[in-house]
Amino acid sequence: MDAAVYDAWYQTPRGSWIGDVEFKLLLELLEPKKGETLLDIGCGTGYFVRRFAQEQGLSVVGLDPDQTWLRFAEGHAVAGEQFVAGSGARLPFLERNFDRSVAVASLCFVEEQRQFVNEMVRVTRKRFAIGLLNRASLLYWQKGRHGGSGAYQGAHWHTAAEIRALLEGLPITNLVIRTSVFSSSGGCSSRWLERVLPRCLLWGSFLVVAGDRV
Ligand SMILES: C[S@@+](CC[C@H](N)C(=O)[O-])C[C@H]1O[C@@H](n2cnc3c(N)ncnc32)[C@H](O)[C@@H]1O
Repeated sequence: MDAAVYDAWYQTPRGSWIGDVEFKLLLELLEPKKGETLLDIGCGTGYFVRRFAQEQGLSVVGLDPDQTWLRFAEGHAVAGEQFVAGSGARLPFLERNFDRSVAVASLCFVEEQRQFVNEMVRVTRKRFAIGLLNRASLLYWQKGRHGGSGAYQGAHWHTAAEIRALLEGLPITNLVIRTSVFSSSGGCSSRWLERVLPRCLLWGSFLVVAGDRV
């Protein structure tokens, strides 16, 4: 998909609402502090990189294997964000290089999943958060089955149990799993559901797992 087209989706009424809901949950679980360093693995066009840098005052590095999307992200940087080409499965950084790390809708496109989470935890000093597509959600039944459609094509939809098993044995603690975006239409009923349903109800399409590095 074209980078500009992908990024412009976040400016549509539905995309902007989903982006806000996802960002809010990520912030809640990642608990970043102003001035800290953050690595965004699979940053794509840099939507979340920009938000973490501009709104939270973090020093952010975005990493992605797609050079075209990285160039777009670089060209739209707002607060000194830096970008590096690479794969989440082989991070070009030293152990505990970043205070925090995040990966949003990128692990679901990666085959070497265990290697990806190993690497993510290795370069993190304090806390990490991984945003995923939830198989136990309405959106999976609408857009995820049979290989998926649109932007979801080829994506792996995780269950909470699967992600727990994937992280088993890593040097992490205080694992938390929450979801949001219970209905993704972005209309009045979606917004209402988002206000009333608890994040610990694991039926939202955006599944986030977060934990502390030991
Ligand atoms: C759906 S996009 C998400 C982009 C961005 N995080 C967002 O939420 O807008 C998936 C991203 O994962 C990236 N990706 C695919 N394989 C990857 C890998 N091995 N390591 C890191 N990122 C990868 C893709 O290049 C793409 O930018």
